[in-house]
Amino acid sequence: MTRLIIDTDPGIDDAIALFLALASPELDVAGLTTVFGNVTTEVATRNALTLLDIAGRADIPVAPGAAAPLAMNYLGAIPHIHGEDGLGDGGELAQPSRRAVDVSAAEFLCREAAGATILAVGPLTNLALALRLRPDLDTLVEQVVVMGGNALGPGNATPAAEANMMNDPEAADVVFGARWPVTMVGLDVTHQVVLPGPGIDAVTTGDTPAARLLRQAIPLYRDFLAKVNGLDGIYLHDPSAVAYLLDPGLFRTERWPVRVETQGISRGKTWPSLGGTDDAAPSAWQGRPLVTVCVDVDAPRVLDLITTRLS
Ligand code: BDR
Ligand code: CA
Repeated sequence: MTRLIIDTDPGIDDAIALFLALASPELDVAGLTTVFGNVTTEVATRNALTLLDIAGRADIPVAPGAAAPLAMNYLGAIPHIHGEDGLGDGGELAQPSRRAVDVSAAEFLCREAAGATILAVGPLTNLALALRLRPDLDTLVEQVVVMGGNALGPGNATPAAEANMMNDPEAADVVFGARWPVTMVGLDVTHQVVLPGPGIDAVTTGDTPAARLLRQAIPLYRDFLAKVNGLDGIYLHDPSAVAYLLDPGLFRTERWPVRVETQGISRGKTWPSLGGTDDAAPSAWQGRPLVTVCVDVDAPRVLDLITTRLS
């Protein structure tokens, strides 16, 4: 069984990812750390606690993360996509039954992540801060699976950059440059994993507290994607990263060093070094570790895995 710590900014697809992880006997969710992104860190922490109550897992600790990126101000919440409450504004959310633990996310990761897998489905600030606190942490963690980035295709926060990377490019560049094995589950694959109407029905019609929460959370996200992207369904960004943990064979991967642009109009863009440069001049990719980058996915099987587990 994989001992798992989830770093998250819930967020509607984060909520689906969390329920999927909790419904998977292969994964032992040992803690949640929270981060700004879809919502502020304060709201993300409240949502993490409430989601765990809903899932009947109030035994799992939640550690509150950084409130802002390493080198800029927080870009702000995106209520038009995830709601003012971060969970679709579809009804009153219950107050959490308990409080977060009183260590920071970075401290929690330093204490708990040795031998564990970190699943990071928000901006990577907490992971970078944990490495500052404990520089050998990247030799102790089993692996880091990141939902974020775009290797070969366009971004979603800007034409260049994906939202989680855009929210803290400096932190992302640290995480992709550290010694832990990193897998990037980015838009190259998550834009292929679209849960259509019947699949949404399958995960929302049950009479469980989790299905009820998803029933009230998903419509806002679905309407946004229909209006703005002309999509008939919802992108399962964060749940795809859980699917990678459950069955990596469903993904085609390449191994490339990855840098994250921190300047100019393509700030937040993840740049793999695809090779093929004309000379051997030193480059900013030289000496960087290879990242496992997901470049293609068997989307029907990922959707089947996710809907089966959540139905
Ligand atoms: C990522 O950004 C967030 O809005 C989602 O929760 C997901 O983690 C997709 O770009
Ligand atoms: Ca997220």
